[in-house]
Amino acid sequence: MVAEQEKLTLHNESRQGEAFAGSTTDNQLFTKKFYIESYGCAMNFSDSEIVASILNEHGFGSTKIVEEANLILLNTCSIREKAEATIRKRLTEFKKIKKANPGTVVGVLGCMAERLKASLLEQEKLVDLVVGPDAYRTLPALIEETNGGHKAVNVLLSREETYADISPVRLNSNGINAFVSIMRGCNNMCSFCVVPFTRGRERSRDNVSIVQECQQLFNDGYREVTLLGQNVDSYYYTHPTTNQSVNFAQLLEQVAQIAPGLRVRFSTSHPKDITDDVLFTMRKYNNICKYIHLPVQSGSTRVLQLMNRTYTREWYMKKVERIYEIMPECSISADIIAGFCTETEEDHADTLSIMQSSRYDYSYMFYYSERPGTLAAKRYTDDVPLETKKRRLAEIIEVQNKLSQESNKRDIGKIFEVLIEGDSKRSSEQWAGRTSQNKVMVFDKANFTASKGSYVLVKAINYTQGTIMGEMVEVLNY
Ligand code: 5AD
Ligand code: SF4
Repeated sequence: MVAEQEKLTLHNESRQGEAFAGSTTDNQLFTKKFYIESYGCAMNFSDSEIVASILNEHGFGSTKIVEEANLILLNTCSIREKAEATIRKRLTEFKKIKKANPGTVVGVLGCMAERLKASLLEQEKLVDLVVGPDAYRTLPALIEETNGGHKAVNVLLSREETYADISPVRLNSNGINAFVSIMRGCNNMCSFCVVPFTRGRERSRDNVSIVQECQQLFNDGYREVTLLGQNVDSYYYTHPTTNQSVNFAQLLEQVAQIAPGLRVRFSTSHPKDITDDVLFTMRKYNNICKYIHLPVQSGSTRVLQLMNRTYTREWYMKKVERIYEIMPECSISADIIAGFCTETEEDHADTLSIMQSSRYDYSYMFYYSERPGTLAAKRYTDDVPLETKKRRLAEIIEVQNKLSQESNKRDIGKIFEVLIEGDSKRSSEQWAGRTSQNKVMVFDKANFTASKGSYVLVKAINYTQGTIMGEMVEVLNY
């Protein structure tokens, strides 16, 4: 399971409504204020930082206090029904604020924008502004349009937009970890997934601007970047004038070469696209973290076919074996869906067994929720009863808990390189940081002179469900 006790920076799905603000000194320069809450995947959180940058340029500073905002934004997620329900509830709560301050503009950004623009604007009258993920540059003009109570909408998807030239304003940052968006959209058309419809076609960002952003982050004291995309392994950028192309393995290498003290992570990988080239590049550089998020979705070949995942159970298992062969110390996590259309008990047993054979360190686990407009909604019947979905999900979670425990147990006695991300939640006498394998470690500061952003060697002594307790051995010099 995802580390609950010491949640540092979460690199995946399911973050819920975090309000973001920049630094107060910056904010004193602004007369108008915006408040933004982000939901869903890391890409949405990264997009909120692009939105903040665009708004700063147009005179809006950020605030964490929703009541003092002139502009309230929700960066939304559509991936499951529950995510949408949460956002509707939040919008209803904003109604009260709008009543007290009638001039306040409420906007919906992100994946719900395209899907629900009509109902959000007209039926429910909850929002003034609806802006899709490729239209954030038009936000300032759209805000203007809302003057005098008008509604403003732009949900157009683009084949080119990558926001490459916009320097994100780091929101609520710990100054150590940052997300860097490298591509947008998805061409995969997994039958259960709404993302290709809400975020459009794949397009890759200029590698030079990515490397520049990472270099700047390093200069500013950041020590870890996570390269983000719905499908990072299909990153492919062709320079328009030189015609030279860069693939994901090459990009990874370019970022890794910035400095040995800058860790590189990436997410998400589609199993069909992660190549040996990427795996060997990971092995070659100590600062490329030995951790791969490799969503399996199901362990049954029949279900995988219905899901349009384009691999079989055996093919996926070979990929996992290949990863362990090239990097025995690599950790792997997965996304898993319980109760997809027509899933039988036998299919479900296949999912439990592929989890065992893959030895996932942790997983993000969901039960299937039909999304309007997807291939599955059009072609298949959502025929697994909710109770069965929930029971199967509980069994998946139980297996994962055991696997995570076993993984933690295997770590005991080993020494890990940890990047310190701050004080532990429980005590200012302890540091918390993560291993290359993305596990959270907590350890006494003891008599070592380390600080936030230091790399240290830590021996694993004990563990709780989401955290490994350790003992610092040495402070590293890079
Ligand atoms: N129902 C349940 N889970 C879903 N995911 C995507 N679409 C759905 C859906 N309709 C999960 C997948 C994906 C993760 C980001 O969310 O596991 O990898
Ligand atoms: Fe959705 Fe599949 Fe694309 Fe991931 S790879 S965003 S699950 S369509």
